[in-house]
Amino acid sequence: MDTLLSLQNTRTDEPAETAFIVSTQVMELLFTLVQQRWEAARDAMEADDVPGALAWLRRACNAQDVLNASWGLLTDMTPTEFNRFRPAFGERPASSPTVTANWSSCWETSPPR
Ligand code: HEM
Repeated sequence: MDTLLSLQNTRTDEPAETAFIVSTQVMELLFTLVQQRWEAARDAMEADDVPGALAWLRRACNAQDVLNASWGLLTDMTPTEFNRFRPAFGERPASSPTVTANWSSCWETSPPR
């Protein structure tokens, strides 16, 4: 738990950084949950289990609703506030994983047909 909470430590004195850190971490966790539920729906479809697939898609929608709502944590952040802490995160390495890469891995084992 200490390790988990330490990930919320800010790098600047800008108060808005906390909301940014918390929202990105919440979203990353939800990306995993949505991906897992999409993959379960895909697997159910491949097994011709349509009711099972629909149940997993409904669960995925519930997670996606929470994911969409989590943007609310950032609605009151101004560009000036963002720019006060953004440089503290440094440049993104060209080799770093991205959300897009992570999401596209959903289809790596079984491409959409
Ligand atoms: C109001 C909130 C946000 C603003 C203003 C913002 C702004 C930006 C900007 C300007 C970039 C491109 C340049 C750079 O690296 O600075 C960027 C990249 C990125 N942002 Fe955000 N962002 C926001 C929220 C988020 C959140 C919540 C996440 C994750 C859940 C996120 C994930 C990313 C990622 C992964 C990239 C790199 C994309 C790539 O690989 O090309 N951002 N963001």
